[in-house]
Amino acid sequence: MEALVCQKIGDPTLPLGGGSAPIAVDRSHPVPPLSSPTSVRVRVAATSLNYANYLQVLGKYQEKPPLPFVPGSDYSGVVESVGDKVERLRPGDRVCSFAALGSFAQLVVADEKDLFSVPDGCDLVAAGALPVAFGTSHVALVHRAQLKPGQVLLVLGAAGGVGLSAVQIGKVCGAVVIAVARGTEKLQFLQSLGVDHVVDLSNENILESVKRFLKAKGLKGVDVLYDPVGGKVMKDSMKLLNWGANILVIGFASGEVPVIPANIALVKNWTVHGLYWGSYKIHRPKVLEDSLKELLSWLAKGLIKIQISHAYSLYEANLAFAAIKERKVIGKVMLVIDSSAGARSKL
Ligand SMILES: NC(=O)c1ccc[n+]([C@@H]2O[C@H](COP(=O)([O-])OP(=O)(O)OC[C@H]3O[C@@H](n4cnc5c(N)ncnc54)[C@H](OP(=O)(O)O)[C@@H]3O)[C@@H](O)[C@H]2O)c1
Repeated sequence: MEALVCQKIGDPTLPLGGGSAPIAVDRSHPVPPLSSPTSVRVRVAATSLNYANYLQVLGKYQEKPPLPFVPGSDYSGVVESVGDKVERLRPGDRVCSFAALGSFAQLVVADEKDLFSVPDGCDLVAAGALPVAFGTSHVALVHRAQLKPGQVLLVLGAAGGVGLSAVQIGKVCGAVVIAVARGTEKLQFLQSLGVDHVVDLSNENILESVKRFLKAKGLKGVDVLYDPVGGKVMKDSMKLLNWGANILVIGFASGEVPVIPANIALVKNWTVHGLYWGSYKIHRPKVLEDSLKELLSWLAKGLIKIQISHAYSLYEANLAFAAIKERKVIGKVMLVIDSSAGARSKL
């Protein structure tokens, strides 16, 4: 089978096949065997590129697998074969899931319990982008911060993969959503989703813009801060938080880990949530399972929509990584592996 293999640490945006490129397509990679009676082999339709996949090939992610490895986490596809004891799934069923590694390939093997059925009517390619981005934001906002209708949610990096999912989940929960991003195209898209206020960091001061909005609406401050960015924008955002606010520490796309002053957290009764979604699989698998089931039901009802801004083949993976690196993405970047699943080379 074909698989994208990371042979050395380096810049994944370099053209594939060049001497210094860390990644290459292996056309005769071994097909993963059914490893237990309850395992299922899935023919991958599409797999999403997350910022973490980019950091992992660069050697800057917290999980550092031994080389060589096949990167990739969330995916969707069609069941190809099943073990003797599989009860719920049959060949031809449409599923999505996530793995620690290995989804940038034509075939993956997972245990039946880790596969989620993609409801009829939901786009199979788009479903490959649901688990990590929407799963992270759902666990953060619904399970951890327990976001309530009418609360003010401030989302940083709001047009990116996790940010855009947080914006949509915030709207489903009935929150007042403030979205922060950079550039007219991203801001227009966020406005089209019906967010309550947008801040364009390329030409606006976040403090002035948000304070003006809150005053006009008779609101005191921000109740939940969703932060996948860190750095200066996070530091500024803390000045907007209400007494009793929840801070969701999601990631550091700016490259700068923010400092949250404990003395101010004490005085203002803030709750700081560090959130590593993937670790729920080990420590709270039921939370993760319930969360993905609820998200798939929301997808089927049209309450959330997966926005794919770029889609590439395995052979164009360097372009997919470049879209992430250059901050061009609105929503998700996909690697579409089985074109019969209805995908185009570039959307
Ligand atoms: N905790 C978890 O379990 C978990 C799960 C998934 C993701 N994450 C983390 O969340 C972060 C975002 O992931 P993602 O997949 O949403 O990435 P993404 O799609 O690339 O979005 C990142 C956003 O951050 C903003 N940004 C600000 N400064 C940036 C910089 N210097 N370089 C790149 N982007 C910058 C960009 O928005 P503008 O250009 O509009 O400013 C961009 O839209 C990453 O750090 C990732 O590791 C954590």
